[in-house]
Amino acid sequence: MPFHYPKEVVPGEYTIAPEAPPGSHDEKSPPMRELYPNRDDYLHVSPERYFSGAHAQREWDGLWTRTWTCAGRASDIPETGNWFKYDLGRESILVVRTEADRIEAFYNVCQHRGNQLVHGDFGKSERFTCSFHGWQWKINGQTNLITDVSTFKPEVLKGRLNLPSVRCETWAGFVFVNMDDEAPPLADFLAEIPHFMQSYQMEQMHVVKDVVIELDANWKVVLEAFLESYHLQETHPQAKPFVDEVHYQLDFFRNGHGRLHTAIGYPSPRCEDRSTVAPGLAYMLAEAGVDPAAYEGRAMQARDALLAAKRVPDNPYGIDYSGFSDSQVTDDWNYSIFPNMTFNTHPEGVLVMRFLPHPTDPEKSYYHVWVISRKLKGNVRPPAYMGVEPHVDISGETRPARRYNSKLDNELGEVLDQDISNVEGVQRGLHSRAFRFNRYSEQEQRILQLHAEIDRYLSAAPPQ
Ligand SMILES: [Fe+2]
Repeated sequence: MPFHYPKEVVPGEYTIAPEAPPGSHDEKSPPMRELYPNRDDYLHVSPERYFSGAHAQREWDGLWTRTWTCAGRASDIPETGNWFKYDLGRESILVVRTEADRIEAFYNVCQHRGNQLVHGDFGKSERFTCSFHGWQWKINGQTNLITDVSTFKPEVLKGRLNLPSVRCETWAGFVFVNMDDEAPPLADFLAEIPHFMQSYQMEQMHVVKDVVIELDANWKVVLEAFLESYHLQETHPQAKPFVDEVHYQLDFFRNGHGRLHTAIGYPSPRCEDRSTVAPGLAYMLAEAGVDPAAYEGRAMQARDALLAAKRVPDNPYGIDYSGFSDSQVTDDWNYSIFPNMTFNTHPEGVLVMRFLPHPTDPEKSYYHVWVISRKLKGNVRPPAYMGVEPHVDISGETRPARRYNSKLDNELGEVLDQDISNVEGVQRGLHSRAFRFNRYSEQEQRILQLHAEIDRYLSAAPPQ
């Protein structure tokens, strides 16, 4: 029987907690139109945005070099001299712990002939030495050695030879950088995000999975696959028995950020059978300490059972859930930080994704998946859909290596594998003579917001 989207449901306007007081986590935002009066201009967008070199150049000049983006985790540089490399498009940035409580960022480029100073992802150094002629900088970016300095005419070495710095600030254990000296501080840029996400205490979580995959699709094609739940019914049919992707809440925050709340442990109205407990739901119950064999409730009551099991002080996860609303305890709150990050937040752990443009080809991008986890009791694992393999140590004792996986052998788990299975077909289809423009439903409003906010940057950028 074909499913008819209920007439009475306004997509994104379902409010799980209508009584949510102002400022509380679940509070529904005003509709998108209040922040973007021109939202309807984005109901169609041109395919060129996803493959044109000229558009990619406008994004580089107007967006990437002017906004805050996440460079990495502060926990990856625990000691003075620890550094990590952050490649954003054609630029490479070196993020260093220069003192016990100080993190700084520099352009990763030798001031002699332009060689990159570090090539690996992570490291620890007392000096940064160029592998070409041995020029050397201290970890705080000050020039330490110019090899055979007397052989340079004085005017050749005039001006600043320290490593040029990049603005760098930290929030929730994530290090952000910004190449624009005129941009507002990170806290202003993040707007409502820190307030709503504070209960997760992500600064206390540790990395348990770190995978990067190069895809033959523009970064926005890949990101957009994670900004709506409209695709669940076709792309993730196995999730229908325990994800209600019809009644959900969409929130729109300032500066392009947003979120999508989806109830978990509750069958979709698209399911004909909403009583029988499906295997995926049984797994969730078991994990929360509810024996599925003894569970007598219907599938539609499982979310309540999950909530009750987690609210017990001695719950199997060893987590104090008292700082979380009921919907945070059981459901998926998918936050997005403009321009290129999403967070599927749960008290136990967070699935973090970053969508990075390719240095030269707008039809390629890097899809970066991190899973960060709280310290969990016993054998409990982060939520199964995050794809953390059973053999991976999630205690926080060892930091798993970053994996550069192929798209076919991506090791992302079933759900994310399904997500990325569509994006390269989309990228190819965008070129078709028979495809004129994307058309977005009201279920895909966060994509309208993405394009509207990108255009705010592009129109603010002076012509190059
Ligand atoms: Fe998906």
